[in-house]
Amino acid sequence: MDKLQITGGRPLEGEVRISGAKNASLPILAGAMLAEGPVTISNVPHLQDVTTMIGLLGRMGVSVTINERMGVEVDAGGVTECFAPYDMVKTMRASILVLGPLLARFGKADVSLPGGCAIGARPVNIHVAGLQAMGADIRIENGYIKARAERLKGVRLVLDTVTVTGTENLMMAATLADGETVIENAAREPEVVDLANFLIAMGAKIQGAGTDRIVIQGVKSLHGCEYTVLPDRIEAGTYLVAGAITGGIVRVKSACPSHLDAVLLKLQAAGATVGQGDDWIEVDMRGRRPLAIDVRTAPYPAFPTDMQAQFAALNCVADGVGTIIETVFENRFMHLLEMRRMGAEIRLEGNTAIIKGVSRLTAAPVMATDLRASASLVLAGLVAEGRTEIERIYHIDRGYESIEEKFASLGAQIRRVPN
Ligand code: EPZ
Repeated sequence: MDKLQITGGRPLEGEVRISGAKNASLPILAGAMLAEGPVTISNVPHLQDVTTMIGLLGRMGVSVTINERMGVEVDAGGVTECFAPYDMVKTMRASILVLGPLLARFGKADVSLPGGCAIGARPVNIHVAGLQAMGADIRIENGYIKARAERLKGVRLVLDTVTVTGTENLMMAATLADGETVIENAAREPEVVDLANFLIAMGAKIQGAGTDRIVIQGVKSLHGCEYTVLPDRIEAGTYLVAGAITGGIVRVKSACPSHLDAVLLKLQAAGATVGQGDDWIEVDMRGRRPLAIDVRTAPYPAFPTDMQAQFAALNCVADGVGTIIETVFENRFMHLLEMRRMGAEIRLEGNTAIIKGVSRLTAAPVMATDLRASASLVLAGLVAEGRTEIERIYHIDRGYESIEEKFASLGAQIRRVPN
């Protein structure tokens, strides 16, 4: 397994182009199965999770090809089996997103339960309960969700917890249901809106995406379309924090500032000068040490849990004491245990981390545990004295396209070495 070697101490300067959003590409690829014609999806990032989803679709008989403009062409006309096996689902929980489309389009789906992951139990009970309320016959047997439905019925759903993929699965299922479906307490993430816009381009009738109440009028069938995925706000936020933590100046291009309001406010609170245009954002922290900030994660538009680890790294070298409260997942502080080994002063109290900034971290061999934790260890390595080695970086490759090239283009001393 490869590892990353990072020599810290250099302020980052320059600009990077942000790739398409992983967390929009995955539901959109799954949702393409709903169309009776071919679908072309552009700006899909080249990531391990996307490769896994494409592999899962291909295994079911869906034709997936990459065209000369790197667009992904999907045609579900030849689906041979509605089956998502454990050996694929266990490597990527987002495989659960094929459940709604398969059930709505083909009337059946056998999908492995994803099981937990490093950051939490991550149940899918809300996905299952919503489909059952829509009339699906669902049995959980031998670790699989076995779902059958002649045709789903439109109903009013009130989701117990705000769930991004739960909202997405149920919204996709509702597009072909008989009648109107209302999803109350829906997730409002930009990726949910992007998926809704994609489904609308296929002929779906959806209103309210981006609010906590989404209304879908079921239609008989959906047609093919061409669609371009929105920029990855978490990738953009990660590079902006890299500029702040190293005391440099970083601009992210092909980004969407309005999707990062909560994050940009926190960067300003940390002392950064934040500039923005229609499709770019710039953070300038030259000559300054970040100020410690307090963060509490919550569903969009509040501060995103996927940016929590990155800001924890920022607090580790900030001036003052900052608190991080993680309210979405029950075990998303593992990166802090690794940062302690780099000299960070961190106290953990349940879902709260109290971090007292130190003037310098010191390099150490560390281990990535999950996608965003890995990114935060890269950020810590960028400011640590010496050369940090990060193991198990397959976690990073799941969500960050060409990470070492992009960081190197900003002046980072970073390279990938075989373990
Ligand atoms: C999505 O995961 C993202 N993944 C995650 O990004 C992100 O951290 C998360 O939303 C929160 O924003 C994708 O979009 C592919 P949830 P998801 O369902 O949908 C509970 C990354 O780094 N819950 O919104 O799986 C759950 O336990 C990844 O890119 C239930 O109880 O998260 C959690 O506490 C990590 N029952 C809360 O809801 C359910 O049926 C939010 O989880 C579903 C969820």
